[in-house]
Amino acid sequence: MKKFFALLCLSIIVCIILFQSSCSGPVPAPTITTDSTAKKEMSHGDMVARGKYLVTVAGCNDCHSPKIMTAQGPVPDTTKLLSGHPANSPLPSMYKNALKPGDWILLGPDLTSAVGPWGISFTANLTPDTATGLGAWTDDVFIKTLRTGKHLGQSGGRDILPPMPWPDFAAATDEDLKAIFAYLKALPAISNKVPAPVPPTEVAKMK
Ligand code: HEC
Repeated sequence: MKKFFALLCLSIIVCIILFQSSCSGPVPAPTITTDSTAKKEMSHGDMVARGKYLVTVAGCNDCHSPKIMTAQGPVPDTTKLLSGHPANSPLPSMYKNALKPGDWILLGPDLTSAVGPWGISFTANLTPDTATGLGAWTDDVFIKTLRTGKHLGQSGGRDILPPMPWPDFAAATDEDLKAIFAYLKALPAISNKVPAPVPPTEVAKMK
């Protein structure tokens, strides 16, 4: 009788184990989406916001925005953001020493021009004004310009002059460059015809 009872207990335990494993079955592996292409397309508003963030942290305003002087030094003039070196503003006294490699400088009062062995360069108007800014540019022209360092992204064109740090921005993804361009295109258009660069030979003649 004892033996029968023990056998009964054993068969009940085996039944419970079999029943449990048939119910739960193998645990399915959790589905983790690692595919980045599954990311949602950014809306235009998201692109502009991302572009504004990138322009801010990349310091485009440092060189491309006219400044106002404050107790903390020059800060971007928010009414003229990214409109480039102001046309017709007089150049400060010329520092011919800056033509020597190593002595280049950003020029005051608002740091939108620079003099060095390349002559004088003036920062471009990045607002969407068609005649004087980036109004007629496409995503493609913008990306080519920052990737190749050629003026207007033209393969046979002149090199973009220092101190424009295009090799840094060339490392950005297409997505980020498009976001930067979307932000620039969303700025108020400001008409400001930036002067052409002055070659070093001309700078040497300046007083
Ligand atoms: C250290 C100064 C400096 C900073 C920072 C800077 N730029 Fe420039 N940028 C320049 C100068 C100077 C030029 C004009 C170069 C020339 O005439 O060849 C220029 C020219 C350009 C041009 C016109 C290129 C062409 O086809 O002639 C674009 C577009 C541009 N910058 C975009 C940007 C953007 C976007 C940022 C920030 C992500 C930026 N720059 C940050 C100095 C700067």
